[in-house]
Amino acid sequence: MKTRITELFGIEHPIIQGGMHYVGFAELAAAVSNAGGLGIITGLTQKTPQDLANEIARCKDMTDKPFGVNVTFLPVVNAPDYPGIIKVIIDGGVKVVETAGNNPVEYLPALKEAGIKVIHKCTAVRHALKAQKIGCDAVSVDGFECGGHPGEDDIPNMILLPRAADELDIPFVSSGGMADARSLVASLAMGAEGMNMGTRFLATKEAPVHDNVKQAILEATELDTRLVMRPLRNTERVLNNPAVERILATEKAKGRELEFGDIAGEVAGVYPRVMLDGEVDCGAWSCGMVAGLINDIPTCEELISRIMADAEHMIRQRLSGMLQG
Ligand SMILES: Cc1cc2nc3c(=O)[nH]c(=O)nc-3n(C[C@H](O)[C@H](O)[C@H](O)COP(=O)(O)O)c2cc1C
Repeated sequence: MKTRITELFGIEHPIIQGGMHYVGFAELAAAVSNAGGLGIITGLTQKTPQDLANEIARCKDMTDKPFGVNVTFLPVVNAPDYPGIIKVIIDGGVKVVETAGNNPVEYLPALKEAGIKVIHKCTAVRHALKAQKIGCDAVSVDGFECGGHPGEDDIPNMILLPRAADELDIPFVSSGGMADARSLVASLAMGAEGMNMGTRFLATKEAPVHDNVKQAILEATELDTRLVMRPLRNTERVLNNPAVERILATEKAKGRELEFGDIAGEVAGVYPRVMLDGEVDCGAWSCGMVAGLINDIPTCEELISRIMADAEHMIRQRLSGMLQG
């Protein structure tokens, strides 16, 4: 399939694996890229720029296809070494950067100068337009369904994607709630040029996370996610578990008095314990409503090939058959 996104990134299929903390290691990024999609290493999971440089080098050993690095700009006082991170991305010859969170404008000139394509992840049309204005090459439009941070507007993709299509000139991919060929074909119909998946790629053979995480996703239905940190305007969609229930109870009890410190114990620093040690109930970790559509743990190659074959069948047979009827 050829779209503006496959052309922009030099990939075979219009499928991107979004950055995921403690999931987006070289193994997963390389597996997605080798399967013809765009794999993405999560920059902030690496403790130092040098660690990220090593991870980029490991990924290059595993694939000669394009892959990207996610740089999430966090609203924190003690910011990570962003200049150092950008430098190793450029020096490492990475072709694509997925930015997320705060406005990446400060780093765009250096990335563009190095010929790196930038796709910014946004949860609102106004943010997508801003990304377009500052020179991003594409955007990833993340609906309310998404795992992770859906923003505060709560607009699901059935509305958000056509709205983005109405406003944007640069290409965009759908993100949030995407799992299969139905997601891809619907996204294309709504004006996207491809799709980005997080939770679906978490439940693949190559995702280098503990099996408990994959099993938890298989067992979850579309009813099993919750929104935490809403009162702090830093909403995160996570898989429900006893720790999440405690966080929500604290949020309710504290009301407007809630401070991050009240819930930090079960929100901050839990990813290594969840993803690497399999302690899935120790705190809040991102998961999309799309868990309700995930019933197997394929390889990335099986997943992407299945999506593309089913999408072709759906377009050629089911949809064009309706026209002939
Ligand atoms: C476990 C997990 C961790 C994530 N970590 C990040 C992250 O560090 N940075 C980021 O920009 N997005 C992160 N995301 C969001 C994904 O990149 C993607 O936008 C989202 O998962 C799409 O929604 P879906 O899960 O319904 O596919 C994460 C998502 C998950 C499920």
